Amino acid sequence: MAVGKNFDRLLTLGIETSCDDTAVAVIRGEREILSALTRAQDELHACFGGVAPEVASRRHAEIIDPVTRDAVKLAGVEFSDIDLIGVTNGPGLAGSLLVGLSYAKALAWALDKPIMGINHIEGHMAAAYQSGVDLALPILFLVVSGGHTELYLLESEHGAPRKIGQTLDDAVGEAFDKVARALGLGYPGGPRIERAARSGSALREKIPVAIPDVDFDFSFSGPKTAATLLIKRYERAGEKIPLEDIAASFQSSAIAALELKTRRAIDRYAPKSLAVVGGVARNEALRARMNLLADEKGIAIAIPEMALCVDNGVMIAIAAARRARSSALSLDALSADHNELDADPSATL
Ligand code: KG4
Ligand code: ZN
Repeated sequence: MAVGKNFDRLLTLGIETSCDDTAVAVIRGEREILSALTRAQDELHACFGGVAPEVASRRHAEIIDPVTRDAVKLAGVEFSDIDLIGVTNGPGLAGSLLVGLSYAKALAWALDKPIMGINHIEGHMAAAYQSGVDLALPILFLVVSGGHTELYLLESEHGAPRKIGQTLDDAVGEAFDKVARALGLGYPGGPRIERAARSGSALREKIPVAIPDVDFDFSFSGPKTAATLLIKRYERAGEKIPLEDIAASFQSSAIAALELKTRRAIDRYAPKSLAVVGGVARNEALRARMNLLADEKGIAIAIPEMALCVDNGVMIAIAAARRARSSALSLDALSADHNELDADPSATL
């Protein structure tokens, strides 16, 4: 079944369940958000200090249908109006992905609608287009989330983004989460570190910036360990832990590393635009630093609005709609071909 050619009016349903958020959205064309719902599970996982996979998939299974029905209703459309279904098919937690994927497949079958499997990272990148910033090619993408810290270069609209750098160990969001846990700030850690850092000083506690020798690669396990050791030192001495200062210092180290490698990639590849995407792109200090960098280099920059940085259904819908337009595909199969961004087969379904 091929979708109609009026891509500006295409109604796309986006479903994202790769981790602990059940997120569903309906968009028209590639930018107009008709509805966007996210049911976060933070309170279910707080006692584990991170996401408990079985708990996450069970919760997705309980609520995916009502959340999808609510999203369609809120959009003011009927299921039968939907032209295309986009669903995350990896990478992510296998059990969580399976719920969204099975649901989307069943829905596509029942409604006789085309379905498209979307790579989660491609989804995060697609969120940058919602901002409306004119992103001229080549585009350098900095992907910063709880599972990924990567630099991609997109040179042509129909080509696949090329990965030019990645973390050698922890993802930056994961490191934020682990440092927050060590500081007793709870989960999710990123926003809590950011809040604590506002009243701290990076100068009072020293956490080094990790700069791996490989051109555009990152490392965050060193700064994470440095922060944990600092905390232990205070504990052992029976002294009050200066958590605001440690938070500020860790955040400053992480942002300095992200900026340095992004700057290096801009100098090497001369992109015309920069996009910063993923959950950590909510961090105001990072946003400010990246805006300054883009200004200095005289290139366009897009950072999605806050709600579109973390996992959401809109980004999956945008990625699906863009693919539909660029390839004018016959969209009746869920194909692993759409997953080429991630080479790790164990992470995909
Ligand atoms: O993109 P996302 O929702 O999920 C993944 O695909 O991983 O990103 C979640 C990550 C978490 O590690 C969270 O701590 C981090 O984004 N994060 C932040 C902030 N808000 C969320 N990190 C730093 N500062 C923030 N304000
Ligand atoms: Zn994500």
